[in-house]
Amino acid sequence: MRKILIIGGTSAIAEHCARIWAARGDELYLVARNEERVQTIAADLKIRGAAQVTTYCTNLNDMDRHGELLDAADIAMSGIDIVLIAHGTLSNQKSCEQSVEETLAEIQTNALSTISLLTLIANRFEAKKEGTICVISSVAGDRGRASNYVYGSSKAMVTAFTSGLRQRLHKSNVAVVTIKPGFVDTPMTTEFKKGLLWVKPNAVAMKIIHAIDKQKNEVYVPTFWCAVMMLIRAIPAGLFKRLKL
Ligand SMILES: NC(=O)c1ccc[n+]([C@@H]2O[C@H](COP(=O)([O-])OP(=O)(O)OC[C@H]3O[C@@H](n4cnc5c(N)ncnc54)[C@H](OP(=O)(O)O)[C@@H]3O)[C@@H](O)[C@H]2O)c1
Repeated sequence: MRKILIIGGTSAIAEHCARIWAARGDELYLVARNEERVQTIAADLKIRGAAQVTTYCTNLNDMDRHGELLDAADIAMSGIDIVLIAHGTLSNQKSCEQSVEETLAEIQTNALSTISLLTLIANRFEAKKEGTICVISSVAGDRGRASNYVYGSSKAMVTAFTSGLRQRLHKSNVAVVTIKPGFVDTPMTTEFKKGLLWVKPNAVAMKIIHAIDKQKNEVYVPTFWCAVMMLIRAIPAGLFKRLKL
């Protein structure tokens, strides 16, 4: 039985991960801001076999509470083996372009709050010389595009931060797993028309669990995004700025 902290516990992708862990009999600690929703998820996970499910409610932009939430999870489960960071918002690019405040708020949610958590978790795991940290970044972080560069640059920061953290923590037996999903059909993307490139959150969750089990480094989900993003990154900047991608 493993002790797993899920930050952003009401995310559709995180919920599907939690279902797999619950079926394995793991112990779960869910952090989310929507109390009613997280209670419903917790009750469901208990039925699915989780050894224990505890919840903690906070807005993750309240970074002063990050230390407290980690302490609470540590005490409730008598230790933490795995942390999954899954919260995020899909920024409204057009309105961000007109508002410094909104742009910075999006970067706060999608990058800075995650980096605050990663810094605290990394030091704890480094001290005990074990643990796995998994963060959901995005293919959007691989190259800034006109249509979503506020969200994309936030995810780029998370990807680069976890790359450095992985190198730092390798010698301390701590794994850092970066997940880069493409298009996933979740509440975050309800507005979008779905097509061939879209996948369901349960499929992404299976890949995340596999990546954590195998202590992978960076994982594109589905795998074909690795090739797609390699091509997109290879386009010279002079040509890229003229394209509508
Ligand atoms: N869906 C995609 O196509 C896609 C693609 C690539 C990467 N991702 C990433 O995958 C992760 C999970 O997203 P998802 O697709 O599962 O979407 P989702 O179901 O909309 O989940 C996003 C979660 O983040 C939570 N959240 C946002 N801001 C928060 C805050 N300030 N404090 C606490 N919780 C906050 C939301 O809570 P509330 O319910 O309370 O708002 C929600 O539970 C995100 O990091 C996202 O960027 C998604």
